Amino acid sequence: MTKIPVSRGVSKVEYAIRDLVLPATKLENQGHKIIKLNIGDPLAYPNFPTPPHMLNAYIEALNNQKNGYSPSYGIEPLRSAIANFEKNQKNGGWNCKSSDVYITSGVSEALLILFASFLFPDDKILTPGPFYPPYVSYPPIFQSTAIQYRLKEDDNWKIDFDDLKNKLDNNVKLLSIINPNNPTGSILEKNEILQLIEIVEDYPNCTIVSDEIYNKFNFTNEHISVASLSKKIPVITLNGISKGYFAPGWRIGYIAIHDPKNKLEYVRDGIEKLLRGRLSAPTPAQHGFLAALTESDQWREEYNKKLIKQRNYCVERINDINGLSVKKPKGAFYIFPKIEDNPYKNDKEFVLKFLEQEKVLLVHGSGFSKDYGKEHVRIVYLPDIKILEIAFDKLKSFMK
Ligand SMILES: Cc1ncc(COP(=O)(O)O)c(C=O)c1O
Repeated sequence: MTKIPVSRGVSKVEYAIRDLVLPATKLENQGHKIIKLNIGDPLAYPNFPTPPHMLNAYIEALNNQKNGYSPSYGIEPLRSAIANFEKNQKNGGWNCKSSDVYITSGVSEALLILFASFLFPDDKILTPGPFYPPYVSYPPIFQSTAIQYRLKEDDNWKIDFDDLKNKLDNNVKLLSIINPNNPTGSILEKNEILQLIEIVEDYPNCTIVSDEIYNKFNFTNEHISVASLSKKIPVITLNGISKGYFAPGWRIGYIAIHDPKNKLEYVRDGIEKLLRGRLSAPTPAQHGFLAALTESDQWREEYNKKLIKQRNYCVERINDINGLSVKKPKGAFYIFPKIEDNPYKNDKEFVLKFLEQEKVLLVHGSGFSKDYGKEHVRIVYLPDIKILEIAFDKLKSFMK
């Protein structure tokens, strides 16, 4: 019987982080216990539960029958709370109005909506390499191409501006930044952002997309919103509840549009049409996010203290293992060590062998870029030090 082919765009979609779950599940089905350091889901570990005031607000919304569709752009009090949050960011806010904010089902949906609204066939999007996979695998769905600009590992994963300039042209519609970065944990310095904006100012077709979903994991206090520094270039900020508010299963994110020269009128119209077409983001979860933004954030201090301790532990353990090296990441909850001395064919085989022998699951760096991520592994440091200790003991013995 003739099989129906999957569309050309979707046939290219890859998501390395979850692809490795298949061999891990096979081992689990054979009765093995796997230590999973692969997925950036804070709720996968008992260490960081969703704060109770958020749960209460969600439950209250359910009990009060707030179970219908919400307005397509999101409930107004949440849009307004997000605008306040963007306006009052400690290191630099921007003049965000509630009408600039659109609530989506996670940043993942926001990306699809943005790409669908911006990209013509043969347009390009520049994305950092290493990259978060949807920035590379989604554009082909819209017959567009993602091109990576290099982050320099030997310079704390800063942007290689020569490489970026070589790759920018008038077909680049979007330039994406992930700040703090997944998978490297780097944070852009103010002068890097200013330099980037200055370069983009020569390209009138280009809009910056700044994914700031890890901005609450800003351990050196350097994080600055890109929108706050742009006077001409449109900047679209993406953020949500998945990481900084420990509720990824609620599927809430947002798009916030800073458009100082009113260049995005038509695109914004397209974004709004798509949002109306897909009806709404989950309603009760929006009430949960509202509580997160309007009630005290004091609980975060303890969470971040714990995370910093875990990060420092990982740096120490990694640099103590022959054949691995890493610099201290400044943010997010990932560490991306280099495999200096890989006895296997490549980083993916390294990860698979480590899984097979020691039952610990990491993600291979080439899943985040075959050019700029290979010969690395990404480790999530959300689990408790006791679990990390076991994992690193196993990694040390594996490297021997
Ligand atoms: C950089 C980045 N953006 C977006 C997402 C997904 O966000 P959401 O859960 O809001 O769809 C992730 C998840 O790991 C991420 O690392």
